[in-house]
Amino acid sequence: MKKITIAIDGHSSCGKSTMAKRLAEELCYVYVDTGAMYRAVTLYALQNGLMDADTKEINEDALHDVIDQISIRQEKGEDGKVRTYLNGQCVEEEIRQMRVSSCVSPIAALGFVRSHLVACQQQMGAEGGIVMDGRDIGTVVFPNAELKIFVTASAEVRAQRRLAELQSKGDTSLTLAEVLENVVQRDYIDSHREVSPLVQAEDALLLDNSNLTIPQQNEIVLAWAKEKIGC
Ligand code: DC
Repeated sequence: MKKITIAIDGHSSCGKSTMAKRLAEELCYVYVDTGAMYRAVTLYALQNGLMDADTKEINEDALHDVIDQISIRQEKGEDGKVRTYLNGQCVEEEIRQMRVSSCVSPIAALGFVRSHLVACQQQMGAEGGIVMDGRDIGTVVFPNAELKIFVTASAEVRAQRRLAELQSKGDTSLTLAEVLENVVQRDYIDSHREVSPLVQAEDALLLDNSNLTIPQQNEIVLAWAKEKIGC
Protein backbone atom coordinates (compact mmCIF):
# COMPACT_ATOMS: atom_id res chain seq x y z
CA MET A 1 0.00 0.00 0.00
CA LYS A 2 1.26 3.48 -0.82
CA LYS A 3 2.87 5.35 2.11
CA ILE A 4 1.87 8.99 2.06
CA THR A 5 3.00 12.11 3.93
CA ILE A 6 0.43 13.69 6.21
CA ALA A 7 0.96 17.29 7.35
CA ILE A 8 -1.08 18.52 10.31
CA ASP A 9 -0.86 22.22 11.13
CA GLY A 10 -2.91 24.54 13.30
CA HIS A 11 -3.14 26.68 16.39
CA SER A 12 -1.56 25.79 19.71
CA SER A 13 -3.43 23.51 22.14
CA CYS A 14 -6.08 22.44 19.65
CA GLY A 15 -5.38 18.73 19.99
CA LYS A 16 -3.18 18.37 16.90
CA SER A 17 -0.74 16.05 18.63
CA THR A 18 -3.45 13.76 20.01
CA MET A 19 -4.98 13.56 16.56
CA ALA A 20 -1.67 13.09 14.74
CA LYS A 21 -0.48 10.39 17.17
CA ARG A 22 -3.70 8.41 16.83
CA LEU A 23 -3.68 8.69 13.06
CA ALA A 24 -0.06 7.49 12.90
CA GLU A 25 -0.97 4.51 15.09
CA GLU A 26 -3.97 3.60 12.92
CA LEU A 27 -1.86 3.72 9.76
CA CYS A 28 1.35 2.27 11.31
CA TYR A 29 3.16 5.47 10.30
CA VAL A 30 5.93 7.36 12.11
CA TYR A 31 4.70 10.30 14.18
CA VAL A 32 6.77 13.48 14.58
CA ASP A 33 5.80 16.32 16.93
CA THR A 34 7.71 19.32 15.57
CA GLY A 35 6.50 21.64 18.36
CA ALA A 36 8.48 19.43 20.74
CA MET A 37 11.59 20.12 18.65
CA TYR A 38 11.16 23.92 19.02
CA ARG A 39 10.47 23.37 22.72
CA ALA A 40 13.68 21.32 23.07
CA VAL A 41 15.76 24.12 21.47
CA THR A 42 14.09 26.56 23.90
CA LEU A 43 14.95 24.33 26.85
CA TYR A 44 18.54 24.13 25.62
CA ALA A 45 18.71 27.95 25.39
CA LEU A 46 17.29 28.34 28.92
CA GLN A 47 19.56 25.66 30.41
CA ASN A 48 22.66 27.15 28.84
CA GLY A 49 22.02 30.79 29.69
CA LEU A 50 21.29 31.73 26.07
CA MET A 51 17.83 33.03 26.91
CA ASP A 52 16.49 34.98 29.86
CA ALA A 53 13.17 33.44 30.94
CA ASP A 54 11.93 36.76 32.39
CA THR A 55 12.88 39.26 29.71
CA LYS A 56 12.73 36.69 26.85
CA GLU A 57 15.98 38.15 25.60
CA ILE A 58 17.95 35.69 23.46
CA ASN A 59 21.69 35.66 22.84
CA GLU A 60 21.15 34.99 19.14
CA ASP A 61 24.82 34.92 18.13
CA ALA A 62 25.67 32.34 20.79
CA LEU A 63 22.63 30.21 19.92
CA HIS A 64 23.49 30.44 16.23
CA ASP A 65 27.01 29.17 16.97
CA VAL A 66 25.77 26.04 18.74
CA ILE A 67 22.61 25.24 16.77
CA ASP A 68 24.31 22.44 14.81
CA GLN A 69 25.34 20.80 18.09
CA ILE A 70 21.75 20.53 19.29
CA SER A 71 20.54 17.06 18.49
CA ILE A 72 16.89 16.23 18.90
CA ARG A 73 15.25 12.90 18.31
CA GLN A 74 11.89 11.38 19.08
CA GLU A 75 11.54 7.78 20.08
CA LYS A 76 8.59 5.54 20.79
CA GLY A 77 9.00 3.77 24.13
CA GLU A 78 7.83 0.25 24.96
CA ASP A 79 4.68 1.82 26.42
CA GLY A 80 3.91 3.24 22.96
CA LYS A 81 4.54 6.85 24.04
CA VAL A 82 6.69 9.07 21.87
CA ARG A 83 9.34 10.96 23.88
CA THR A 84 11.68 13.77 22.91
CA TYR A 85 15.42 13.52 23.59
CA LEU A 86 17.73 16.53 23.69
CA ASN A 87 21.37 15.57 23.16
CA GLY A 88 20.54 12.06 24.36
CA GLN A 89 18.52 13.05 27.45
CA CYS A 90 14.78 12.56 27.75
CA VAL A 91 13.23 16.03 28.18
CA GLU A 92 9.60 15.13 27.59
CA GLU A 93 8.40 16.54 30.91
CA GLU A 94 10.52 19.71 31.01
CA ILE A 95 9.53 20.83 27.52
CA ARG A 96 5.82 20.80 28.47
CA GLN A 97 6.27 23.09 31.48
CA MET A 98 5.04 26.68 31.42
CA ARG A 99 8.63 28.02 31.64
CA VAL A 100 9.29 26.57 28.19
CA SER A 101 5.78 27.30 26.79
CA SER A 102 6.14 30.97 27.54
CA CYS A 103 9.59 31.22 25.90
CA VAL A 104 9.16 29.03 22.83
CA SER A 105 7.52 31.48 20.40
CA PRO A 106 10.48 33.93 20.19
CA ILE A 107 12.83 30.95 19.66
CA ALA A 108 10.56 29.56 16.92
CA ALA A 109 10.62 32.96 15.21
CA LEU A 110 14.39 32.78 14.57
CA GLY A 111 15.22 31.95 10.95
CA PHE A 112 18.36 29.93 11.71
CA VAL A 113 16.51 27.80 14.28
CA ARG A 114 13.74 27.12 11.76
CA SER A 115 16.07 26.20 8.90
CA HIS A 116 18.01 23.81 11.15
CA LEU A 117 14.84 22.07 12.38
CA VAL A 118 13.11 22.09 8.98
CA ALA A 119 16.14 20.27 7.48
CA CYS A 120 15.95 17.65 10.30
CA GLN A 121 12.21 17.23 9.73
CA GLN A 122 12.60 16.80 5.97
CA GLN A 123 15.18 14.10 6.63
CA MET A 124 12.88 12.33 9.10
CA GLY A 125 10.07 12.25 6.53
CA ALA A 126 12.10 11.55 3.42
CA GLU A 127 10.64 8.03 3.05
CA GLY A 128 6.96 8.99 3.48
CA GLY A 129 4.74 6.99 5.84
CA ILE A 130 4.80 9.86 8.30
CA VAL A 131 2.37 12.03 10.21
CA MET A 132 4.03 15.30 11.22
CA ASP A 133 2.36 18.04 13.20
CA GLY A 134 3.35 21.66 13.61
CA ARG A 135 2.72 25.09 12.11
CA ASP A 136 4.52 25.04 8.76
CA ILE A 137 4.46 21.39 7.76
CA GLY A 138 2.07 21.76 4.83
CA THR A 139 3.48 25.13 3.77
CA VAL A 140 7.27 24.80 4.22
CA VAL A 141 8.45 21.35 5.39
CA PHE A 142 6.35 19.21 3.06
CA PRO A 143 4.59 21.50 0.57
CA ASN A 144 3.87 18.41 -1.57
CA ALA A 145 2.33 16.34 1.24
CA GLU A 146 -0.51 14.21 -0.11
CA LEU A 147 -2.79 15.11 2.82
CA LYS A 148 -2.74 18.45 4.63
CA ILE A 149 -5.00 19.17 7.57
CA PHE A 150 -5.36 22.55 9.31
CA VAL A 151 -6.82 22.20 12.80
CA THR A 152 -8.34 24.91 14.91
CA ALA A 153 -10.71 25.50 17.85
CA SER A 154 -11.82 28.62 19.70
CA ALA A 155 -9.18 30.16 22.02
CA GLU A 156 -11.44 29.58 25.07
CA VAL A 157 -11.88 25.89 24.31
CA ARG A 158 -8.13 25.52 23.76
CA ALA A 159 -7.29 27.28 27.04
CA GLN A 160 -9.68 25.00 28.93
CA ARG A 161 -8.09 21.90 27.39
CA ARG A 162 -4.57 23.14 28.16
CA LEU A 163 -5.50 23.94 31.77
CA ALA A 164 -6.96 20.46 32.22
CA GLU A 165 -3.77 18.95 30.78
CA LEU A 166 -1.55 20.97 33.13
CA GLN A 167 -3.75 20.10 36.12
CA SER A 168 -3.72 16.41 35.23
CA LYS A 169 0.09 16.63 35.51
CA GLY A 170 -0.19 18.19 38.96
CA ASP A 171 0.43 21.81 37.90
CA THR A 172 -2.28 23.82 39.63
CA SER A 173 -0.41 27.14 39.69
CA LEU A 174 -2.26 28.76 36.80
CA THR A 175 -5.74 30.21 36.33
CA LEU A 176 -7.84 29.83 33.19
CA ALA A 177 -7.29 33.54 32.42
CA GLU A 178 -3.50 33.10 32.53
CA VAL A 179 -3.59 30.08 30.25
CA LEU A 180 -5.96 31.89 27.88
CA GLU A 181 -3.58 34.84 27.74
CA ASN A 182 -0.70 32.51 26.85
CA VAL A 183 -2.80 30.83 24.10
CA VAL A 184 -3.83 34.19 22.58
CA GLN A 185 -0.29 35.53 22.79
CA ARG A 186 1.18 32.45 21.11
CA ASP A 187 -1.47 32.61 18.34
CA TYR A 188 -0.49 36.20 17.67
CA ILE A 189 3.26 35.57 17.58
CA ASP A 190 2.89 32.35 15.54
CA SER A 191 0.71 34.05 12.90
CA HIS A 192 2.58 37.36 12.72
CA ARG A 193 6.22 36.30 12.69
CA GLU A 194 8.26 37.12 9.60
CA VAL A 195 9.60 33.62 8.98
CA SER A 196 7.06 30.90 8.14
CA PRO A 197 4.03 32.42 9.88
CA LEU A 198 1.19 30.06 10.73
CA VAL A 199 -1.18 30.07 7.75
CA GLN A 200 -3.52 27.48 6.34
CA ALA A 201 -2.05 26.00 3.15
CA GLU A 202 -4.37 26.59 0.21
CA ASP A 203 -4.85 22.88 -0.31
CA ALA A 204 -5.29 21.99 3.40
CA LEU A 205 -8.56 20.58 4.71
CA LEU A 206 -9.91 22.64 7.63
CA LEU A 207 -11.01 20.93 10.83
CA ASP A 208 -12.55 23.05 13.62
CA ASN A 209 -12.80 20.67 16.56
CA SER A 210 -14.33 23.10 19.12
CA ASN A 211 -17.43 20.92 19.29
CA LEU A 212 -16.00 17.54 18.39
CA THR A 213 -15.01 14.73 20.73
CA ILE A 214 -11.61 13.10 20.24
CA PRO A 215 -13.15 9.92 18.72
CA GLN A 216 -15.23 12.07 16.34
CA GLN A 217 -12.23 14.01 15.09
CA ASN A 218 -10.16 10.83 14.78
CA GLU A 219 -12.87 9.27 12.64
CA ILE A 220 -12.94 12.28 10.30
CA VAL A 221 -9.18 12.43 9.74
CA LEU A 222 -8.84 8.66 9.35
CA ALA A 223 -11.48 8.78 6.61
CA TRP A 224 -9.58 11.60 4.87
CA ALA A 225 -6.32 9.63 5.08
CA LYS A 226 -7.89 6.42 3.77
CA GLU A 227 -9.34 8.31 0.85
CA LYS A 228 -5.89 9.68 -0.07
CA ILE A 229 -4.19 6.31 0.39
CA GLY A 230 -6.92 4.68 -1.64
CA CYS A 231 -8.11 2.05 0.84
O1 DC B 1 2.68 22.71 19.15
P1 DC B 1 3.42 23.31 20.32
O2 DC B 1 2.59 24.18 21.21
O3 DC B 1 4.17 22.28 21.11
O4 DC B 1 4.51 24.29 19.64
C1 DC B 1 5.43 25.00 20.41
C2 DC B 1 5.81 26.30 19.71
O5 DC B 1 6.61 26.03 18.56
C3 DC B 1 4.67 27.19 19.26
O6 DC B 1 4.88 28.51 19.72
C4 DC B 1 4.74 27.21 17.77
C5 DC B 1 6.12 26.71 17.44
N1 DC B 1 6.14 25.82 16.29
C6 DC B 1 6.52 26.34 15.07
O7 DC B 1 6.76 27.53 14.96
N2 DC B 1 6.61 25.51 14.00
C7 DC B 1 6.34 24.22 14.10
N3 DC B 1 6.45 23.44 13.02
C8 DC B 1 5.92 23.67 15.34
C9 DC B 1 5.82 24.50 16.42
